[in-house]
Amino acid sequence: MPIQISAHVLREPRGTFELVGGIELADPRPGEVLVRYTSTGLCHTDLFARDVFHQPDFPPAIYGHEGTGVVEAVGAGVSDVAEGDRVMASFTSCGQCRTCLTGRPFNCEHFNDVNFALARPDGSYKASLEGQPVGSSFFGQSSFGSHALVAERDLVKVPEWVAAEDEHLLGPLGCGIQTGAGAILNVLRPGPVDSIVIAGTGAVGLSALMAAVASGIGTIIAVDIVEERLKLARELGATHTIDGNDEDQVEQIRDLTHGGASHAFDTTGVAPVLSRLVDALGWGGRLGIVGAAPGMTLDLLPVMQLGRQVQGIVEGNSVPRVFIPQLLELRRNGRFPLEKLARTYPFTDLEAAIGDTTSGAAVKAVLVH
Ligand SMILES: NC(=O)c1ccc[n+]([C@@H]2O[C@H](COP(=O)([O-])OP(=O)(O)OC[C@H]3O[C@@H](n4cnc5c(N)ncnc54)[C@H](O)[C@@H]3O)[C@@H](O)[C@H]2O)c1
Ligand SMILES: [Zn+2]
Ligand SMILES: [Zn+2]
Repeated sequence: MPIQISAHVLREPRGTFELVGGIELADPRPGEVLVRYTSTGLCHTDLFARDVFHQPDFPPAIYGHEGTGVVEAVGAGVSDVAEGDRVMASFTSCGQCRTCLTGRPFNCEHFNDVNFALARPDGSYKASLEGQPVGSSFFGQSSFGSHALVAERDLVKVPEWVAAEDEHLLGPLGCGIQTGAGAILNVLRPGPVDSIVIAGTGAVGLSALMAAVASGIGTIIAVDIVEERLKLARELGATHTIDGNDEDQVEQIRDLTHGGASHAFDTTGVAPVLSRLVDALGWGGRLGIVGAAPGMTLDLLPVMQLGRQVQGIVEGNSVPRVFIPQLLELRRNGRFPLEKLARTYPFTDLEAAIGDTTSGAAVKAVLVH
């Protein structure tokens, strides 16, 4: 039997999310799971969806892609999770392309098609309001709702030892936090004698910082233009912080790293920041990029001249069912204090959470039902 759900719905590009009840959610199809969300993180990509992705001819849509909840029902053939299981949802992938089949769902050839989506890959909608379709497949999970249908393969079971009062911290692991931590632990992999510069100390940058600290990297330099964030970066273990407005940032980094950093990680998507990070790298240094802005450009000459490398990173090159439990173990051992990033809001207060995320007052806003 279809159920009635409520959700924050966006009706027009750059609009305001409106909490709407009486949305009909279909029964789970084979391979789908009905999840009742208990919380969801808010990620900048949700604001990208609101301001850039959502087009005037789109149906009303439910965004959100850092959901945690409980399984209420499963479709035919689902065997990995069962009713009552605590689960979190991560990004989706097709499961059938060359990169998915070789264990790299974060590089799924259809990543953008299936994640920036309102309908299932076959074009059908999971939800409707007064007989009209409602977009409900964003990152396969549309977590700004009370419930959603999520493909079994996109769910991660919450380990039994995770306390109920910590559940709200889990959703952000499905996107922003695994992105930052994975950039360090899965991709750049600096070691104790290396140095890393992290530009932008929001949720993604600070997750990278916590992973860098957990890895025992000798020199960890955080750069931001907001002093509050740099303060938090120092608390979390940055060995140095630099004001992103300083004229001599490159010289400061080169001094601190005795000639140039071995690694850098950008979460700002700001072109001048990227080119400064390249200049601050030593010979053979590596820069990872996750932030994006339209028209973001980079001069490749200084990349080539010093044998440097630049790599785009999606979702921290994470296989969520493997990596997220590993991050939870790190936290359990006191080496990944992700609670320091989170600020909670009642589920109804999405617009307040958006305001604090936009102003920088909240590093990682989490809506709790
Ligand atoms: N590639 C992926 O898979 C992926 C996944 C999640 C998020 N993202 C993207 O990562 C980016 C970071 O996300 P977030 O949640 O941490 O955002 P955020 O806004 O919280 O953090 C960005 C930080 O950059 C700082 N900043 C801005 N301009 C700066 C400058 N000139 N110099 C130094 N610092 C500057 C801001 O003050 C802020 O603290 C976003 O663009 C987001 O869309 C990418
Ligand atoms: Zn694929
Ligand atoms: Zn995200």
